[in-house]
Amino acid sequence: MENYDLVVIGGGPGGYLAAERAGHAGLKTLVAEKNSFGGVCLNEGCVPSKTFLNSAKVFDYANHADKYGVKVEGKTSIDQKFVVERKNGVVKMLVSGVKAQLKRNKVVMKEATAFIESKTADGFVIKVGEEQVLAKRLIIATGSMPVVPPIPGLKENIASGLVLTNKEILDLTTIPESLVVIGGGVIGLEMASYFSSVGTKVTVVEMLDKIAGPTEKEISAILQKTLERKGVTFNLGCKVTAIESDGVVFEKNGKSEKITTDKILLSIGRRAVTQGIGLENIGVNLERGAIVTDDNMRTNVANVYAVGDVNGKIMLAHTAYREAEVAVNTIMGKKDKMRYGVIPSVIYTNPEVGSVGETLDSAKAKGLNAKEINIPLTYSGRYIAENSELDGICKLIVNVDTNTLIGAHIIGSYSGEYIVSVSSMIDLEVNVENIKKLVFPHPTVCEIVREAIFNI
Ligand code: NAI
Repeated sequence: MENYDLVVIGGGPGGYLAAERAGHAGLKTLVAEKNSFGGVCLNEGCVPSKTFLNSAKVFDYANHADKYGVKVEGKTSIDQKFVVERKNGVVKMLVSGVKAQLKRNKVVMKEATAFIESKTADGFVIKVGEEQVLAKRLIIATGSMPVVPPIPGLKENIASGLVLTNKEILDLTTIPESLVVIGGGVIGLEMASYFSSVGTKVTVVEMLDKIAGPTEKEISAILQKTLERKGVTFNLGCKVTAIESDGVVFEKNGKSEKITTDKILLSIGRRAVTQGIGLENIGVNLERGAIVTDDNMRTNVANVYAVGDVNGKIMLAHTAYREAEVAVNTIMGKKDKMRYGVIPSVIYTNPEVGSVGETLDSAKAKGLNAKEINIPLTYSGRYIAENSELDGICKLIVNVDTNTLIGAHIIGSYSGEYIVSVSSMIDLEVNVENIKKLVFPHPTVCEIVREAIFNI
């Protein structure tokens, strides 16, 4: 039996980065992936959806070119087959990049299913494909899968192809005339943004009375308004009761309604993948279906770590990256731990949303002496120069007692790129007086942060 210092199960962002860092640190490492290296993020999530959304952005520009003095003759149309082919090309390039990095760091890659068989005095016995290996340590990074609730007709209509998840929708080579999105969270909104841009009649059915989950309430309302302008219909506070072969039945204000549609996207959240790995053979603790971990990514079993969506903490690829590093540093005896409070999040709709940290409501709920600064993005010259719809805003949340930032919520172009500047200020606890001395390039949209700071 081949011996490894570390076996990583799952080759998504959490798993491949853990393997890469471990290999770099000199650990003899094997990473097993049963589908494709890169995981959901690279193959059927973050990256492919961004290629779609970029096509939508170009489409939107072409449609509104006259607003910028550009004449486009005829009707703008989308070649969805090309969009999917381009997406596949982007995925292929990135997956080969991941493999090259793993190879460079001397990681053994296995495209096979790994299963934990037992724990012995010499280590963990893992079956990887047909082979058995021995591992001193394990990192579980098996990710998550879409939640499929017991709604009558749902399973049958997933099988029939009427209902799609994030995976199948990114392989649609024709544009449906109509699409009902169940769940107005991140996946639902990004796909609503794409398909409404390219001509689909999109209807969102959301259980809560606001879209975009924990997103700051005013930002969420602006996002809803801009999507409505693009033709998206929102049914909020609605519960889906059945899926029929031609549509969705839901309850609105106590009454049953039905929307007939060509396609349905199911995007009501994801759950950790903890079955079929053999976790029970070594006694790994689960809570609400996810592996329980501490701030060092340790599970209850010595030498077993869990990173990424499988621990159910924050299901974002960049959280998984950082968790992977913390796990490997902990294995290497370096002091490191996760801090979950300053993880930025981005919704890549057009306009995009960048958020980090507290909202005024969450800060107050924690008893903090907090203040909110809310300014329009029209304080930025570049924002006005480049946009025809000007309803973006930037909100900063300040802890009045410490005079430091504790949150930022921005809707508008590039916010997903520069939100990290505010995350850094929050993470490093930079005093507002010192932030005032930082120089921002001019003219940029990110100058809005400086403007907001001077409005405190
Ligand atoms: P989500 O948790 O973001 O949103 C699910 C939405 O569905 C919620 O608003 C919820 O209230 C609603 N919902 C739940 N049950 C429902 C029902 N029966 N009927 C109607 N609505 C219902 O989940 P989503 O969009 O599926 O995304 C999954 C994960 O992927 C998230 O953790 C997200 O963070 C991650 N992701 C992140 C992206 C990003 O960072 N840009 C992009 C895409 C996904």
